[in-house]
Amino acid sequence: MYSLSADRQSYAADPVAYYQTLTQQLNSLLEIDRNWVTNMAQTAAFIYSMIPDLNWAGFYLAQDNDVLRLGPYQGRVACVHIPYGRGVCGTVAASKEAILVNDVHSFAGHIACDSASNSEIVVPLISAGRLVGVLDIDSPVKQRFTDADLTGFVQLAQTFVDCSDLTSLG
Ligand code: SME
Repeated sequence: MYSLSADRQSYAADPVAYYQTLTQQLNSLLEIDRNWVTNMAQTAAFIYSMIPDLNWAGFYLAQDNDVLRLGPYQGRVACVHIPYGRGVCGTVAASKEAILVNDVHSFAGHIACDSASNSEIVVPLISAGRLVGVLDIDSPVKQRFTDADLTGFVQLAQTFVDCSDLTSLG
């Protein structure tokens, strides 16, 4: 049923349209169940398989005061706890603003969970005004991401928030 894979040609030709299609597909996938673990797992797998040139895609959870905890993801094993303000994910948790990092090695305090990562996008997940976690997308390619990717991941993150019961997070 879900034999989905990245279509590099469509992505390169019109990334904005590509992300619009992905957002509709993700919405259909997540409409099946509102459980947040289920939907984080599906979202991570969906992004990892549908966007070219990623080495990590997944979630960190806001469940404890000022420390993010590793959630469902695709990729190599990762740091379990990230204090707010540390690295890219912790910076986004503290500011609640999405960040696009062209070269993670020049980002002060970057946490190198996977040495293959060179660029990344992190999007805060906000539900009813509360931070419930962050979506973290990493690539082995420097300067991999554009503003179209940032906008696309913000849309996908919002779809996850809209389709999930997040009352036990944040
Ligand atoms: N890159 C992140 C750490 C998490 S891993 O890359 C999965 C950061 O600096 O926040």
